[in-house]
Amino acid sequence: MNTVTAATHVTIEPSILYFGTPVVLLSTENPDGTFNLAPMSSAWALGNVIVLGLGAEGQTARNLMSRPDVVINLPAPHQWAAVERLASLTGRHPVPASKPAGCRYEPDKFGAAGLRPSPSETVRPPRVAECPIQFEARAERVGHDVSGSFVIAEAVVGKVHANPRLVVPGTHHVDPGAWSPLIYNFRHYFGLGPELGHSYRSQTPRTR
Ligand SMILES: Cc1cc2nc3c(=O)[nH]c(=O)nc-3n(C[C@H](O)[C@H](O)[C@H](O)COP(=O)(O)O)c2cc1C
Repeated sequence: MNTVTAATHVTIEPSILYFGTPVVLLSTENPDGTFNLAPMSSAWALGNVIVLGLGAEGQTARNLMSRPDVVINLPAPHQWAAVERLASLTGRHPVPASKPAGCRYEPDKFGAAGLRPSPSETVRPPRVAECPIQFEARAERVGHDVSGSFVIAEAVVGKVHANPRLVVPGTHHVDPGAWSPLIYNFRHYFGLGPELGHSYRSQTPRTR
């Protein structure tokens, strides 16, 4: 085997490691019975569980520790500006010192984002009407991460809502050619490029 001798990489110390994960909008219930809405991108699926990574000082993490109902709303790429309108807002009052400069308290996140609440069927927080895919879920396990700065929540999905244009007719499959997540890539927003291929386990292959 040949050894690589040229310098193919440099060592860097990036301030963040957000290497490109889908953005979701979490709706949760505040202590006073109103609802919070927060963007996050540290979310991934394990079967019917969505694992969520949240700053421990945020209102969303606090809500999930006391009231586990949550809706995981998936925005499409064209909705990035609505997501960004929520970026500097927190539902926590007073704003914790650990929040970045410029962060302000906002009790009406739906209104601030220009998004409409739509009643859920199995949980108390509403869905985001404009989001094409919505998961109603309950955070069954919520605990601190190894650093103590974050909370990891395991949310069990009980109901999935999808825009019918994204569903393969006559099936329960999301059409991967019709759906694109909004990707948070080192703090910049992207959509997906063209399909490159599919897994051997795909149940919706478009090319053989
Ligand atoms: C695109 C995007 C992705 C984000 N991802 C996360 C994340 O994965 N975890 C997190 O705790 N905060 C994330 N944030 C920051 C939160 O949205 C922000 O801290 C917000 O103030 C939380 O609101 P809350 O305090 O009302 O829960 C993200 C923000 C944006 C705009």
